[in-house]
Amino acid sequence: FKQADLANKHIVITAGPTQEAIDPVRYLSNHSSGKMGFSLAAAAAERGAQVTLIAGPVNLPTPAGVQRLDIRSAEQLLKTSLDCISSCDIFIATAAVADYRPAEAAEQKIKKDGSGSELSLTLIENPDILATVAKHSDRPKTVIGFAAETQQAEQYAQQKLKRKNLDAVVANDVSRQDIGFGADNNEIIWVTQSGSEPFGPATKHDVSHFILDHINTLIH
Ligand code: C5P
Repeated sequence: FKQADLANKHIVITAGPTQEAIDPVRYLSNHSSGKMGFSLAAAAAERGAQVTLIAGPVNLPTPAGVQRLDIRSAEQLLKTSLDCISSCDIFIATAAVADYRPAEAAEQKIKKDGSGSELSLTLIENPDILATVAKHSDRPKTVIGFAAETQQAEQYAQQKLKRKNLDAVVANDVSRQDIGFGADNNEIIWVTQSGSEPFGPATKHDVSHFILDHINTLIH
């Protein structure tokens, strides 16, 4: 890639899991490591982009030259994403957003009553951050999503592309242990309306540059 082929572009990347509060000490979440989003942020900064990384709770250092905004819940992720939207050229959603959150977070720690009876938690659907951004009147020129599937990744990615109004979807098969969630390597399929292209297995660093090469082709 050319040294600064993303200069003057503002790229906003969502990364990591979200945490949805049950009470002051407990939450619902998932095993997302944030590695793919952080790797993309580092690679985009290497290529001269202005990068805003909106990160859920993860154990990763902030890449050099990247502005990091920390969030916990899906609602905070949505608000922070919308705050960034008007100056954003390219929006990339790698975050593993919790699909549901507790309808109400208890104000005090929930106590067990020791009777052995069941406790029910009512969950409500979280907003879809990616779809909200992609269908917004202030939509960034380029909006990219990820699709973690356990089967028929390419077919589901095509559907996601249309349903969420995206320019491209990066599909991967998370049923494999060696790639995807938490791993340092990834094998993906770049899916657009005009076709698809597989890449890898490769390091997340190389996958990031492959994705940014293709984003560059999209915007030029
Ligand atoms: O629909 P699904 O969860 O498979 O879509 C995955 C893509 O959508 C990812 O890019 C993810 O970051 C994004 N997403 C989101 N907000 C949600 C759910 C998913 O931004 N609530």
